[in-house]
Amino acid sequence: MESYIVEGGNSLEGVINISGSKNAALPIIAATILNPGVSIIKNCPNIHDVKNMFIILEMLGAKINRNIDEVIIDTTNINSYEIPANLMHEMRSSVIIAGALIGRMKKCTFTYPGGCEIGARPINMHLDAFKQLGVDIVEKDGYIICECGKLNSADITLDFPSVGATENIMLASCMADGITYIRNAAREPEIKALQEFINDMGGKIKGAGSNTISIEGPTKFHDIEHKVIPDRIECGTYMCIAAGTKGTLELTNVIPEHVSSIVHKLRGIGNRIDIDHDKILIKAPDRIKSTKIKTMPYPGFPTDMQSQFTSLVTTAKGTSIITENIFENRFKYINELIRMGAVATIEGRTVIVEGVNKLHGAEVDVKDLRGGAALIIAALIAEGTTKINGINYIERGYENIVEKLSIIGAKIKKQ
Ligand code: EPZ
Repeated sequence: MESYIVEGGNSLEGVINISGSKNAALPIIAATILNPGVSIIKNCPNIHDVKNMFIILEMLGAKINRNIDEVIIDTTNINSYEIPANLMHEMRSSVIIAGALIGRMKKCTFTYPGGCEIGARPINMHLDAFKQLGVDIVEKDGYIICECGKLNSADITLDFPSVGATENIMLASCMADGITYIRNAAREPEIKALQEFINDMGGKIKGAGSNTISIEGPTKFHDIEHKVIPDRIECGTYMCIAAGTKGTLELTNVIPEHVSSIVHKLRGIGNRIDIDHDKILIKAPDRIKSTKIKTMPYPGFPTDMQSQFTSLVTTAKGTSIITENIFENRFKYINELIRMGAVATIEGRTVIVEGVNKLHGAEVDVKDLRGGAALIIAALIAEGTTKINGINYIERGYENIVEKLSIIGAKIKKQ
């Protein structure tokens, strides 16, 4: 198992260019299945989860050529509708391929993605929506077999604004006859990015970013070129690194609107943040203040920043209270922080963090992607050396993180 060795305690300074968004790229790669042709995608992050999606598409029959600044995806010869079980388990977000395969092939078989490190991750809303679109769903020997003669439009209300369910409905309903509505839809920027991608390919989707989305089908698709939006969670993570190391960072290639809830909280704990078009300059105070956080669907404070912010406030002045409202098991990294000297108590979906003067280095284990980011932040804050095991989780979602951190003065190496 590979590890990072981090020497903490330095103030980090410099410029970080934010990569393309993992959570925008994954549904967009799935959406290329809808158009039996060529999609050119720019600013696609070179990370493990994206590589996994490419493997799945190649197993379905697509041809993929990746060069420095673009990926050329040719889905003309896709001839399979089965999502490989091993990859579905390894990366549960591949469930969004189902919507695209149902849209194009009117068939898809896949295994239950199963839970992951942060929760049970059920897909009931995805399956209920497929049924409303006219898909017959049979569960047999652990497989979910989806099939339909034709897709009918539907008026679908989600119990919860699920990002993946919203994306899957958008993908499948592009090929339904008539106008499909998604009510209580997820409003994340990645949903709006998916709408733009599909419309660039010939789609007629409106309303992404609001809680009601309409999709008019069936769609006649054509080839396109598209640039992936910047990763708002990567941006938030590096802002927490600046805040935690008493540093000064300039983040380039960002969309400030996408990180406004994170900027608001970072300003509230004492950071000076200046925004200039697609750049953010953050300058940390000597010691940050404590805060209260409740994770919410966008535009609320994102669950994907909960771990990083909790790590940050371990050395704040005062006691912080962080409540995780989206996933039921997203505190696995807390015990690792405690090994580094943090004082934190979990009560149900809330963690109470009493700020300490300093953290110390330790050997810690990563349990999930954003928990891993939290441990990197803690290691950069801590005095001494930290060994971070299980870094494959981190490299699923953070492009060139060792190189990016080294450029701003972090002492980090992979072994
Ligand atoms: C997406 O996951 C993101 N992943 C997650 O980012 C992110 O945390 C999450 O949205 C919330 O913003 C990608 O975009 C690839 P949900 P998704 O469906 O779509 C429950 C990261 O770190 N639910 O919005 O799986 C579910 O259990 C990852 O980058 C059902 O109950 O999230 C959860 O409690 C982690 N039934 C809540 O809804 C369903 O059918 C939100 O899940 C679907 C979801």
